[in-house]
Amino acid sequence: MSDALSTQHEEGRPTPIPEGPGPTGDEITVLVVDDEPSNQTSLAKIFQREGMRVFTADGARSALEVARKHKVQVVLTDLMMPGTNGVELMRALKEVSPDTETVLMTAYGTVETAVQAMRDGAYDFVEKPLKRMTIVKSVRKAAERQSLVAENRSLKQELKLLTTREIVGQSPALRRVLDVATQAAPSSATVLILGESGTGKELLARYIHGKSSRADGPFVAVNCAAIPESILEAELFGHERGAFTGAVSKREGRFARARGGTLFLDEIGELSPAVQVKILRVLQEGEYEPVGGHTVRADARIVAATNKDLVAEVEAGRFREDLYYRLNVIAITAPPLRARREDIPLLVDHFLGIYCKKNGRARLTVPPEVLQKLSDYPWPGNVRELENVIERAAVLCRNEGLALSDLPDAVAQAAAAPPAAVQFPIGTPLEEVERRLIRDTLAHTAGDKSLAAQLLGISTRTIYRKLGETE
Ligand SMILES: Nc1ncnc2c1ncn2[C@@H]1O[C@H](COP(=O)(O)OP(=O)(O)OP(=O)(O)O)[C@@H](O)[C@H]1O
Ligand SMILES: [Mg+2]
Repeated sequence: MSDALSTQHEEGRPTPIPEGPGPTGDEITVLVVDDEPSNQTSLAKIFQREGMRVFTADGARSALEVARKHKVQVVLTDLMMPGTNGVELMRALKEVSPDTETVLMTAYGTVETAVQAMRDGAYDFVEKPLKRMTIVKSVRKAAERQSLVAENRSLKQELKLLTTREIVGQSPALRRVLDVATQAAPSSATVLILGESGTGKELLARYIHGKSSRADGPFVAVNCAAIPESILEAELFGHERGAFTGAVSKREGRFARARGGTLFLDEIGELSPAVQVKILRVLQEGEYEPVGGHTVRADARIVAATNKDLVAEVEAGRFREDLYYRLNVIAITAPPLRARREDIPLLVDHFLGIYCKKNGRARLTVPPEVLQKLSDYPWPGNVRELENVIERAAVLCRNEGLALSDLPDAVAQAAAAPPAAVQFPIGTPLEEVERRLIRDTLAHTAGDKSLAAQLLGISTRTIYRKLGETE
């Protein structure tokens, strides 16, 4: 018995040869496995007449080959075939194509085996002599189940992608940040997360919440810049019925919803002076008043974030100094991606994993010259920009490996990054080495002292001291 694929067309055999891409729309895909060519042909005809896409195979090996290459919803297989049987095929199929459903064709006297096969996961069995209506009905129902199971699986996967976001990176700069975050998490201290746009501030806030004793409570995020000033107060603190025109019923605010959990105040640098006063009061007294209501005790841990330079905002008189100090109990600066280029390959790999899966395609490879460009580009939009670039490439790429043409022009044309190393002649006094290293690091962080301190693993105060400056 030859095990050749019958889809490899042979002279005089009217076996259908499905070509081209996978099934589209509602077309059902069925694979008929029977060692008898005439059975294959007649079954194929039946399903084709039903508008289904049909593959045929004459044994387990060729059937598995088809299932590896094409999306097969249902396998209709003979139970007894020379050298193999339908149950073994079904088990092997689970490895190659876990969602595929199996319907067995059984001859008289093998029903017991078929019943056992159903316990092992077959969808159905049909008895010979076959009746057209019966097999069509069974295959249709099996296909329906396959679609439901596959859809369920992909929805679950998508949900997982949305909810579990790990922090990827091994660089010393990121590790230091995670160390501080891990240490700060269990306390109820207010945390202020600083950093450029797209550096992962929200991700860090969720990380802190997840590692805190309030992890089972809610994580409530408020984007202070996105909510119009006129309604921000009511949104944060809630309001009583009739507190203002349109307040037709009492409404809980975000502080109340974050009870027992964490309130993430994002874009805190955008708060109006009026709301700044109210938040200061919660931080100082641990209580607030809903609009038109009575004093309530707050029970939310506050994590705030901004991409603004809050010290400059304080100096310019736009942000209350007392609030700044209240928020700044523990400050964490998310380092820009260009200050931790060693994380780029890991992040590229991480996002390729996510977006290739999302687009239902095999994992793309990244040739060295492409990875080099991705590493050289300065990433002004940080991790978010990198994520977008990889998502776009995972959609556009037509080959198995990423090409420079799959990247936006700015990335594909990135010039090599300047070397990060600083060299000193032997005999340079240690103090001088320290001073120069600090100055170069400050140049690298565009004068951001708190980031430079993090990169160097020292306190901001030490930076001032070593440079002989006063704070
Ligand atoms: N270290 C990281 N590992 C994996 N994903 C990351 C990392 N940092 C950021 N991301 C991803 O990058 C995107 C941007 O992150 P996030 O929203 O936390 O940044 P942000 O600093 O809050 O940005 P913005 O200031 O613009 O609000 C998100 O999709 C996030 O999951
Ligand atoms: Mg954010």
